[in-house]
Amino acid sequence: MTVKVLLVAGARPNFMKVAPVIAALEGAAHECTFVHTGQHYDAVMSDAFIRDLGLRAPDYHLGVGSGSHALQTARIMEAFEPVVVAERPDWVVVVGDVNSTLACALVASKLAQETGCRIAHVEAGLRSNDWLMPEEINRVLTDRLSDLLLTPSRDALANLTREGIDSSRVVFVGNVMIDSLLRMLPQARGRGRGTGTGGHQGLNGGPYAIATLHRPSNVDDRESLTVILSALADLSADLSVVLPLHPRTRARIDSFGLEGLLAPLVATPPLGYMDMLALQADAEIVITDSGGMQEESTVLGVPCVTLRRTTERPVTVSQGTNRLAPWPLTRDGIVRTALDARRSGRVEIGARAPEGWDGHASERIVTALEKASATTERK
Ligand code: UD1
Repeated sequence: MTVKVLLVAGARPNFMKVAPVIAALEGAAHECTFVHTGQHYDAVMSDAFIRDLGLRAPDYHLGVGSGSHALQTARIMEAFEPVVVAERPDWVVVVGDVNSTLACALVASKLAQETGCRIAHVEAGLRSNDWLMPEEINRVLTDRLSDLLLTPSRDALANLTREGIDSSRVVFVGNVMIDSLLRMLPQARGRGRGTGTGGHQGLNGGPYAIATLHRPSNVDDRESLTVILSALADLSADLSVVLPLHPRTRARIDSFGLEGLLAPLVATPPLGYMDMLALQADAEIVITDSGGMQEESTVLGVPCVTLRRTTERPVTVSQGTNRLAPWPLTRDGIVRTALDARRSGRVEIGARAPEGWDGHASERIVTALEKASATTERK
């Protein structure tokens, strides 16, 4: 039976999740329509990822751009609705926890009766239990709306059960982002580290840390941003600290007048997927508030320090190479945790990979969609 899927991506962390799913769907002769909402639109936030991952051009580009949460979500909904009506897919498949994820799930759920479409959520069941994070709202509501909940780690099922979601709708498939990582790593490493840093000084064979920051709770507050950048500056006494700057973070550094704190760091524009992968793979430590990098560093065997109060990816701590910096963040707490992490050392690639983080999640996603298509029931 051929399954007709409308697959949605909108923001940078979505592209590495949809690329293997498109390949697996098309490899199994299913019909896949790829929709890019345009939540991220800069060449460095979107095109570079599409190119690096070998993704084909989207069938629909909704071009929604930036705005407040309400505005962005509303624009995505308005633009996505006619696509679902025109395409009448069997499944709308959404990934991750960004505004595009929730907006498209909401549209599909309202059109379920009229078009017969169902919703599948890839990366279901993750919970930070921190309702101040916009992503937590997106996760909980998307899961509530989904007919098929595809989980990346075993802990997710307990979160969903606690919320009253019937386990018959939940399928453990593993982590699809790792499909992209394992596929692209040899090629990324072959290009050499530091390509995207403009061959930056300080990376010529010396040890380095790679840091990323973009969470509103870390970067929208002058005090928090100062604490984090000062800690990174302290660490740079011993090893180069590469800091690719998300547009949000760049804007805050400028408006708070913190440019001076970047002086000891290797600050770069946002990097593409391959450059980030190559840099992470050879780093001494990763310091981040990104969810994806907690997962990638776990598989790469690189110690990671997470600059967040909680993580919705606890398996990266219990099994992987991740640890949380003490909260509330302090300059000294970040430095101490980073030094401990560095001392703990790297492990072999894959040595700490959780179950199902094996490069085959996309195939299990396709199997789950095929099996669920064979049943006519909706939630
Ligand atoms: C979004 C996601 C977050 C994810 C992150 C990865 C939500 C609620 N948040 O956060 O979960 O971890 O993406 O990057 O969906 N901007 C540009 N160019 C772009 C895109 C954004 O300059 O291509 C700037 C704009 O000023 C924009 C700001 O970055 O207002 C924030 O972008 P937005 O998509 O709202 O959220 P992110 O912080 O990127």
